[in-house]
Amino acid sequence: MNPYFCQVDNLKFNVGAFHKAIIADNPVQRMPNGPYWAEVLKHHRGEPMQAEFAELYKKINPNFPAFGIPHMEDSLETFGRHNSTDEFARILQYDISKDLLDKFYKFLPECISQQNIRFTYQRVVSGTFHHIHRDHDRPCTLFYLLSEPVAKTCWHTMKPESLEEFTKNNTLGMTRSIGPKYCNLEYTTVIQKNQWYMFNNSEYHSVHCLPEFDHIERTSVHLDFLDLTYQELAQILMDNGFSLTDV
Ligand SMILES: [Fe+2]
Repeated sequence: MNPYFCQVDNLKFNVGAFHKAIIADNPVQRMPNGPYWAEVLKHHRGEPMQAEFAELYKKINPNFPAFGIPHMEDSLETFGRHNSTDEFARILQYDISKDLLDKFYKFLPECISQQNIRFTYQRVVSGTFHHIHRDHDRPCTLFYLLSEPVAKTCWHTMKPESLEEFTKNNTLGMTRSIGPKYCNLEYTTVIQKNQWYMFNNSEYHSVHCLPEFDHIERTSVHLDFLDLTYQELAQILMDNGFSLTDV
């Protein structure tokens, strides 16, 4: 099995049919639980992302300017098209009401709905890439794309020499986001619309606009598994008659 991403063949719940209800529900933009992301959201006024990051890093963690910003700059240099700071993708996440959530969960097989899960409605509204990172609050998800595919998703591993360096400097804990020079590209895919996938959010991943598009506009639904690893989720799905296909 692909350790990063695979298709769940026979999970047929069509979220597209549910999409109008999600919009009509006026989903609430999620305030992230970490102080860093809460600040990002609070100060988010449409200024270039790089400036926001620089200020916020300084404010929240004095160690970040030295460490985080070079990673952002490496990413911009490697992944940006025009080296403009507004190329960093803006990702917004939303919660839906409990009423709607209950309706939604009724369609899910028990082996999924009985797990510790969270529903996330996500929109990427601008930018051409999201830098290499690991999600801080969900080890794995079931991912369903609602909009046309305009981006590729890549997974990376840290180079052994970088791992050694970070371990030696005692900065490994700060590597939730990381510059491309520290990583090897392992796997790339273009996620297709109206299909459930298993997504490993614990491994380094990044998102990049396809060359034929100007920027990323993407809407997706995620079932976030808060207590399961990607491998544990795969086992549960297979034990319950779902087949997983590498794509
Ligand atoms: Fe992510």
